[in-house]
Amino acid sequence: MELINNLKWRYAVKKYSEELISENKIDQIIEAINLTASSCGIQPYRLIVVTNPEIREKLAEGSFNSQIKASSHLLVFAAFNKITNEYITEYVAMMEKQRNLEIGALNDFRDVLLSHFSTQTPEQNAIWSSKQAYIGLGTALIAAAELKVDATPMEGFDPETFNEILGLTEKNLHASVILSLGYRDAANDYLASMSKVRLPIDEFATKL
Ligand SMILES: Cc1cc2nc3c(=O)[nH]c(=O)nc-3n(C[C@H](O)[C@H](O)[C@H](O)COP(=O)(O)O)c2cc1C
Repeated sequence: MELINNLKWRYAVKKYSEELISENKIDQIIEAINLTASSCGIQPYRLIVVTNPEIREKLAEGSFNSQIKASSHLLVFAAFNKITNEYITEYVAMMEKQRNLEIGALNDFRDVLLSHFSTQTPEQNAIWSSKQAYIGLGTALIAAAELKVDATPMEGFDPETFNEILGLTEKNLHASVILSLGYRDAANDYLASMSKVRLPIDEFATKL
């Protein structure tokens, strides 16, 4: 399948060229992320797309990752801090609407979610939400590779700086993981010509 070739083509780019990604490609990557599966289907994270150079300069402060600033786009996967009853209720109402169900048709499902999340601490909510955000990150990497857009997933950033500059805390969000997007500067990126390093398949996967 072509996906394997695209995954062999991609690598975590260190140095980007000045070339910008078209809005159409960015929109396709965003749509792919929105289509990502999430536990209970409630998408407990949001995506912030940052292009503004001044904001990106501030976000990059204190980070060893120059790609935060020097790339075409920066995606911030911002996970929920808490899963609130209001959010669950509104999301389930949206499910009923989008599936043309009667109001209240999914009450049992909603109540299971309300009861489950009421037993979780805010810290558990935040960790769970962050895990869901990482699944979106995986989709973004695959979508970018299919479009031959380069990408670098990054945990090397200061979440507090991101939360503050992007005003995430007051929106019940926290920066979980980030992804720069752009086009590789192959002549100046030492990784561009390096072989991909992966375990032999037999060591990685066990078939029983
Ligand atoms: C969750 C996550 C966080 C990462 N954080 C960084 C980072 O902060 N800076 C960086 O240059 N690369 C980062 N990487 C890239 C990895 O180092 C890279 O994916 C790995 O070495 C495998 O190489 P490849 O992606 O080029 O195939 C991260 C990757 C993942 C999946």
